[in-house]
Amino acid sequence: MSEKTKQKILVTSALPYVNNVPHIGNMVCVISADVYTRFLRLKGVDVISVLGTDEHGTTTETKAIEEGITPKEVCEKYFKIHKKIYDWFESSFDCFGRTSSKENLEITQDIFKKLNKNGFIKKDILEQAYCPKCKKFLADRFVEGVCPKCGYKDARGDQCENCGALLNATELVDAKCKICGTKPITKKSEHLFIDLPKLAPMLEKWVKEQSVKGKWSQNAKTMIDAWLRDGLKPRCITRDLKWGIPVPLKGFEKKVFYSWFDAPIGYIGITKECRKDWKEWWFGKDVRLVQFMGKDNIPFHTVLFPASLIGTKDGYILLDRISSNEYINYEGGQFSKSRGLGIFGDDAVKTGIKADAWRYYIMVNRPEKADTDFSWEDFQSKINNELVANFGNFINRTISFINQFYKSEVPEAKPDKKDEKLIKEINDDIKKITDLLNDVQLKEALKQIMHISRLGNQYFQEAEPWKKKENADTCLATCANITKDLAILIRPYMPETSSNIFKQLNIKELGWKDLGKVLLRKGYKINKPELLFNKLEGKDVERFKKDFGGKKVEGKREESVKDAFSKLDLKVAKIISVEDHPDADKLIVMKIDLGNEERQIVAGIKKYYSKEELIGRNLIVVKNLKPVNLRGKESNGMLLAAMEKKDDEENVKLLSAKNSSPGDDVFIEGIKKEPKKHLGYNEFREAEMRTDAKGHVLYNGKPLKTKKQKITVEGVKENAIVR
Ligand code: MF3
Ligand code: ZN
Repeated sequence: MSEKTKQKILVTSALPYVNNVPHIGNMVCVISADVYTRFLRLKGVDVISVLGTDEHGTTTETKAIEEGITPKEVCEKYFKIHKKIYDWFESSFDCFGRTSSKENLEITQDIFKKLNKNGFIKKDILEQAYCPKCKKFLADRFVEGVCPKCGYKDARGDQCENCGALLNATELVDAKCKICGTKPITKKSEHLFIDLPKLAPMLEKWVKEQSVKGKWSQNAKTMIDAWLRDGLKPRCITRDLKWGIPVPLKGFEKKVFYSWFDAPIGYIGITKECRKDWKEWWFGKDVRLVQFMGKDNIPFHTVLFPASLIGTKDGYILLDRISSNEYINYEGGQFSKSRGLGIFGDDAVKTGIKADAWRYYIMVNRPEKADTDFSWEDFQSKINNELVANFGNFINRTISFINQFYKSEVPEAKPDKKDEKLIKEINDDIKKITDLLNDVQLKEALKQIMHISRLGNQYFQEAEPWKKKENADTCLATCANITKDLAILIRPYMPETSSNIFKQLNIKELGWKDLGKVLLRKGYKINKPELLFNKLEGKDVERFKKDFGGKKVEGKREESVKDAFSKLDLKVAKIISVEDHPDADKLIVMKIDLGNEERQIVAGIKKYYSKEELIGRNLIVVKNLKPVNLRGKESNGMLLAAMEKKDDEENVKLLSAKNSSPGDDVFIEGIKKEPKKHLGYNEFREAEMRTDAKGHVLYNGKPLKTKKQKITVEGVKENAIVR
């Protein structure tokens, strides 16, 4: 082995919160990191990339409450969804893991212990925002108010989106509880703080050097300069929550770490989860750490995370290059799963449009300096004009022509001045693209690649080989080699398309070093042409616009709202028996009678009803909901209840039909039932049902009923949601 160790690059993409289904806007960061990693691999660099889910903290707890399952179950469910979506988008991360792993727990606790041992942890009584109405401590992001630094009106309790300042919720002026709007009071609780002021000299020295060396973007530098100038404050790293990594310190066992403390450490945890050689990546001398993230993640990656690592004095590698992005909006507004607005991972699959086309669009619209907008019109135009008419056309006409007129064999090239000029221009482009990619300018590089195929098309057009001119052979031989170059260049962005081109060229998949070389020479036999992309037709675009344009926009959508209810199979059921769930405090296990069958269902209503109140009672059950396993007990169906916030508590009341019999059908007049066999929970949620002032349950203004009566619910106000 040589003395000099080889340069390694470790690429990370911000770990997405696990509590949602990612939409195409969320894919920007993931795909960017993947493009860059694939480029490095093609160059032969020793690289690994790390991605995974950010699973701790209030975002997950909130979702768990919403879905009536445990935080752990939320993670299990959405981790799979995330993984599947990233796989579909061809993200090729070397390590994919989660922040709730035992590896992350070990490393987080270890880093904390080192920080503590080295004197960088302080105890302090925290005046925490506490909502007297919601009766709970409010996580920073559940407090809103005016930023004390810049005066921005809608600052969040953890950070001001406007000036980027890291905040504590109690610093906000005119603070409000985000859940109920009440002014929070401050309540005391003892917490642990990372002593950023004490770490500041080391941090500052590092930032000064690294921001230049790593060519950090101007906005990142401006933000950091401002924090350092204003002076860093100790930052609280513990929380009064249950879901998280336990704090290994006497007196703090009941608390967990702040999720922004353990989330970035997750990069290390995930590497450990997946690689035996993880230490070589995180402590190696010649490793460059390149991190991709959304803009609002910058402070955590340039201050909190590096400070945590520096404070261990263990010699962890630190951020070298940062690439931050802004956001993609949907048709001028925000993505919203609940309102059916926008394309979420699973929708993209359903459109039948290839992952590569999405990757292309997301990268060519990469929001680098400002937000960009996804619009179907723009999408259609870029697919049709850039991928089909430019890139695809050049490759297809080249391969078709060689097949048709040269018996699939590359002809001989005798380049003259004009050909040389093109070749030089393309080689210049290749150099530019390589520089841009090295510099992580992924959007510009992609545009430059499209420039090459444009040049190719022009060249082909002007040479008019179909007129059997004498330069036809040279033209096609040149175009064949440009096609080979395009297959290499586009590979980081559109891997499947690249493989397809290599296949059509009958050549093995090449790397960056093969660019600009004449590899396809006289007599080389290529394969048959295949279309790379399909045109996106106007009628499809119209359909997509409707399907992904929200639920209540126009008349047409009404039908699909009806569809949502028609998929449900609701029946009256009677409770036969009730038992406590052996492994979950809040759940009960019931046997129910559905007229012609008995079933077991598990429900989270223990807090609201006693066993005596339940046994013998009539319920309304979603019969065709996909069976789920709730902590080891199968739940085959789901009962319906109305929910509302009442004073400080959630109020939950079961739907009923006292005068009906088990097995009676529940329907709405005028809506034909066409229940699916296994309904997903999200599909169920699309059929939004609410209560009216008389205690009836309405869907789209119409009451749910059995043949004997309307469905009723007592003890909730108008407009409570039924779930
Ligand atoms: N989950 C955060 C977000 O989606 C990002 C976490 S990045 C990490 O904004 F560094 F903490 F992992
Ligand atoms: Zn409140």
